[in-house]
Amino acid sequence: MRARALTWVALLWAGAAGAQPLPVLPDATDLEPAADVVHVALTVAPLAAPHDGFEYGVNGATPGPTIRAREGDTLVVELTNGLDTPTTLHWHGLHVPFAMDGVPWMVAPVAPGETFIYQFALQQSGTYWYHPHFDTDRQVDGGLYGAVIVAPAEPEPPAPAPEVVETVLIFDLPAEHAPDGHSGAHGRGQRFPTWWVNGAPTPVEWAPAAGTTQRLRVVNASSTGYLALPALPGVRAIAGDQGLAAAPDAVGPWVLGPGDRADFEWSVGPDAAVWAAEPYSLNGGPRWGDPWPLLSVTPVGSAAAPAPVAWPFSGAAPSADPGGPTWVYALTGSDRTGVWFINGERFPDVTIAEVPQGAERVLEVRNISPTHHPFHLHGHAFEVLSVDGVPPPHRRIEDTIDVGIRQTLRLRWLADNPGDWMAHCHILPHAEDGMMTVLRVLPAP
Ligand code: C2O
Ligand code: CU
Repeated sequence: MRARALTWVALLWAGAAGAQPLPVLPDATDLEPAADVVHVALTVAPLAAPHDGFEYGVNGATPGPTIRAREGDTLVVELTNGLDTPTTLHWHGLHVPFAMDGVPWMVAPVAPGETFIYQFALQQSGTYWYHPHFDTDRQVDGGLYGAVIVAPAEPEPPAPAPEVVETVLIFDLPAEHAPDGHSGAHGRGQRFPTWWVNGAPTPVEWAPAAGTTQRLRVVNASSTGYLALPALPGVRAIAGDQGLAAAPDAVGPWVLGPGDRADFEWSVGPDAAVWAAEPYSLNGGPRWGDPWPLLSVTPVGSAAAPAPVAWPFSGAAPSADPGGPTWVYALTGSDRTGVWFINGERFPDVTIAEVPQGAERVLEVRNISPTHHPFHLHGHAFEVLSVDGVPPPHRRIEDTIDVGIRQTLRLRWLADNPGDWMAHCHILPHAEDGMMTVLRVLPAP
């Protein structure tokens, strides 16, 4: 059995001679001449040539164009709905006003043929992404998503610094959504991990210049797939969901659940390498199987790898756990029933917890189900205080975090953005099947 799997991978790998080069995603065109406004037009519509489970595109392609802006800019996005169903755009990880959150919960979705203008100030830097939040499982799996890259207000790293070449990598597993509506958690890709990146099947060929520093901005846009990336010489994780990390991490493996992002610095030397995803399943973490080659890296030239960049890492320690007040979120359910709960409730029949703007809460997320769940909170970020009682080595700010089987996470949350904010599992079939709730932040009087 094992031999057969190896042969299969070897055959596939032999076929990689014909592998595509890594596609470079286009940037969205900024239609506004003013320096501090970025105005882009996005049309979501069926793809002219649907393929491999990808049905929809943004401006004609999946992934959609990358939105690039700077912290402090105003972002204006004109969304035109060319689908025959309603849609929205959600700005995953960004602190947007509630009316701009793209959630059809008291704010109507965008009807077919209509245009809606999203407009908000960018308050954070980092790697974010946009995707619909209407019929989310189906629309995201069909290919509606793109990256939002927000550069920090102050250049990062501070000058003088080596040139850093940036590349956005959006990973996805196609055809995860089951048309019967109850896909459970297995997602075809769990057994056949055909990861795609930037709209091409992996492995892809990547040929960066030897002697350069590359920053890979990685988004996991999959609805069910966990991307487990092992350490490689010259590679460090430098940023998470919410911009630059407090400290770099060269140890790995880095596990990105659905909705998660991370940035990697790659100091490219002359040696070829293969970055292969380790087998990993939402049904229990590391699992049996062979690594799945994602990037086949053949540097151009013979220059030595540059020294790591002196990014302005804060080195900050994690905050002390304040103890309380604590809100507990218990995650339950199972693949067998295909029904998922938060505190015994299924969205939309949920109890809405309320907190005044400016107050702090500890969100204690307990996973007492047999699968992992990436917990995501809208409109805010949170600090990871502890995982099973153990604080992280450095301050860690996230908006999406994996909750392993039987794990308990304590998250420090400053409720500073008024609105009705969804908190949910980013395994989209789980969310669809009930694993969502709402946290209400009441505006300061
Ligand atoms: Cu990325 Cu509620 O979503
Ligand atoms: Cu889940």
